[in-house]
Amino acid sequence: MTEDAGPRRVCVVTGGVHGIGGAVSRRLAADGDRVVVVDLDESADVVGDVTDPSTVARLVEVVDGLGRLDVLVNNVGDFRPASKTFLDSTPGQWQRLYELNLGHVLSVTHALLPRMVAQGHGAIVNNSTVEAFRGIPGHAVYSGFNAAVSAFTKSLAVEVGRHGVRVNAIAPDLADTDQTPAAAMLRGRDPASVPLWVPLGRFGRPEDYAEVVAFLASDAARFVTGQTLPVDGGTLAASGWYAREDGKGWTNMPDHP
Ligand SMILES: NC(=O)c1ccc[n+]([C@@H]2O[C@H](COP(=O)([O-])OP(=O)(O)OC[C@H]3O[C@@H](n4cnc5c(N)ncnc54)[C@H](O)[C@@H]3O)[C@@H](O)[C@H]2O)c1
Repeated sequence: MTEDAGPRRVCVVTGGVHGIGGAVSRRLAADGDRVVVVDLDESADVVGDVTDPSTVARLVEVVDGLGRLDVLVNNVGDFRPASKTFLDSTPGQWQRLYELNLGHVLSVTHALLPRMVAQGHGAIVNNSTVEAFRGIPGHAVYSGFNAAVSAFTKSLAVEVGRHGVRVNAIAPDLADTDQTPAAAMLRGRDPASVPLWVPLGRFGRPEDYAEVVAFLASDAARFVTGQTLPVDGGTLAASGWYAREDGKGWTNMPDHP
């Protein structure tokens, strides 16, 4: 599906080599799009730290060379550097969490949005997190900046809708990636316990998130803007409800017997 009826779409995916971003790049390329990948990994089209203004400048040059931009996926984000508690955290950590989770969403969007507005069409998909909507102790700063990503998504959508540009986001949970490997999420627990806390019964695969990003970037979502769609196997809906180990219903008690 294309956002317009024109030739091959040009898409930009930040952090588009590994994890969720990697699956998004592969999915869009499989759909026939020309995908410009920005990543620290040497295999990217634009190699560099997306929080560095010089990387963004090189990205703009590449997009200018291609002469169009249909889809921008602002995927980079990281809960590290993390502290045990907010009281243990430092202004240096807050600054890096800002750069990794919110700052580049603003700077990359600001640099590439003029082309979408001039074209009269475009789709932006940001990567937020369920923790923008559900409290996560120890990660208050990460959570706050991702809530800002979702608020930015909503407000910018209202602002640029008249130019034919849509802005949406996904809110992942429990993706089995380098950043949050399944083994780390299990912390030694029996994998058989996963269905007790994830309604759909398993961790996410990068492709699960890429499908939703591809939808939001496609013409199928042409009347959808300003939304953050949880892609989480149902954890946000459950919000603290767990299946009981004895199979007899559900519990919201902390020790979930
Ligand atoms: N994994 C999860 O369960 C989960 C949950 C909630 C939200 N998210 C969000 O989804 C997004 C992707 O997560 P993931 O788990 O796939 O991440 P990941 O760390 O596994 O992969 C990130 C990709 O981005 C690249 N990258 C990292 N920092 C970069 C930088 N500064 N500049 C350029 N490239 C950079 C990496 O090289 C890699 O290719 C992030 O925004 C993350 O916050 C993930």
